[in-house]
Amino acid sequence: FAVHLLAFHFAKLKEDQIKKVDRYLYHMRLSDDVLLDVMGRFRAEMVKGLGRDTNPTATVKMLPSLVRSLPDGSEKGDFLAVDLGGSQFRALEVKVFNDGKQSSQLESKFYPTPKEVIQGSGAELFSYVADCLSDFMESRNLKHKKLPLGFTFSFPCKQNKLEEGVLLSWTKHFKARGVQGTDVASSLRKALQKHKDIDVDVLAMVNDTVGTMMTCGYDDPRCEVGLIIGTGTNACYMEDMRHIDLVEGDEGRMCINTEWGAFGDDGALDDLRTEFDRELDLGSLNPGKQLFEKMISSLYLGELVRLILLKMTKEGLLFNGKVSAALLTKGKIEMKHVSAMEKYKEGLSNTKEILTELNLFPSEDDCIAVQHVCTIVSFRSANLCAAALAAILTRLRENKKLLRLRTTVGIDGGLYKTHPQGSAKGAAMVTAVAYRLAAQRKQ
Ligand code: GLC
Repeated sequence: FAVHLLAFHFAKLKEDQIKKVDRYLYHMRLSDDVLLDVMGRFRAEMVKGLGRDTNPTATVKMLPSLVRSLPDGSEKGDFLAVDLGGSQFRALEVKVFNDGKQSSQLESKFYPTPKEVIQGSGAELFSYVADCLSDFMESRNLKHKKLPLGFTFSFPCKQNKLEEGVLLSWTKHFKARGVQGTDVASSLRKALQKHKDIDVDVLAMVNDTVGTMMTCGYDDPRCEVGLIIGTGTNACYMEDMRHIDLVEGDEGRMCINTEWGAFGDDGALDDLRTEFDRELDLGSLNPGKQLFEKMISSLYLGELVRLILLKMTKEGLLFNGKVSAALLTKGKIEMKHVSAMEKYKEGLSNTKEILTELNLFPSEDDCIAVQHVCTIVSFRSANLCAAALAAILTRLRENKKLLRLRTTVGIDGGLYKTHPQGSAKGAAMVTAVAYRLAAQRKQ
């Protein structure tokens, strides 16, 4: 009986902590109605970005990618690729062949992207990329071959041709000088020309969302959406040409890079943003920009958690009201910590360890509360992502004049792949719910 009483006592204490945090973060817990509303707002943004007259003032840029068709399985050859813009820089060799059933083989190598490189001069950045590629070719014994290269560049670019792209603005943690407004593919070509011992042809430039959609589309012909939830967040999808005012022609479809990270930059989400979102934004590399992304992606969620814990502590709700120097330091809590704290089994002991490292002397109650803060921040991220994705899926369904859409979404990104609660699975689930609700509302 005593054991039962004790268990009951602890369950009650846990419940109290959860309730305390739920109350404190009330504005971060978005109801289905709010999510449906966000979905509606994003649908309107897409229309605005696609229209000729409205595009110049639209925050969601809906950039034509010039990719018109998905792989059909008949592709073959040896290709090189470089991938710049995520948490790590990567060089790849991809062999595509067709021996009865389509297939591909991939070898790759990661290279670090130190701050000096990504926030230095543009010329240095591209010569670093070229050096790494040359090193990769050396290690794969490819230097004697002439190979075509695909350049995944995960930033908003205006493309008039597949092999050229003008950087509109840096996002995430990149800020190299002298690159905005210039053609990034040609800068890479120039840097590669300095390496006399390699012969590489930069043939295509794609956003990572587009790359993800194409990769998935190679295995699944139904794939027509690409989604990234990683350092940043963004999605692309196949839009009907007749709706794309900025590109000539009405036949067929083209992939549109939505650049949804910028959703809200005109104030469209101000009623949902909390004081923590505003503070995080002010301390970022690009204040006022990528406001949707700042509520979702891994570059920002750790800092959001830190700002919440700091304020709760100052108000005496955590750690006996005692703030530590570490908790006051920007960037001290990262996504990897948030994920560790949210783990199903070890979560609570991870939380204790992480907080102790921040010199916070956590009680059992503190750990439960902090873990719940992490859950709320992650869940909001998954929900917002799902709301925007649901808008894209609805648009696809309407374009095809279908009552029900059967489609595939290709998804990638560090946060999607490593979050213990499967933020992505969660996102898919919420999408399903939002989608069902939308269908009900129409009836
Ligand atoms: C940022 C970039 C976008 C990219 C996304 C995911 O939002 O602006 O181009 O797709 O991050 O990496």
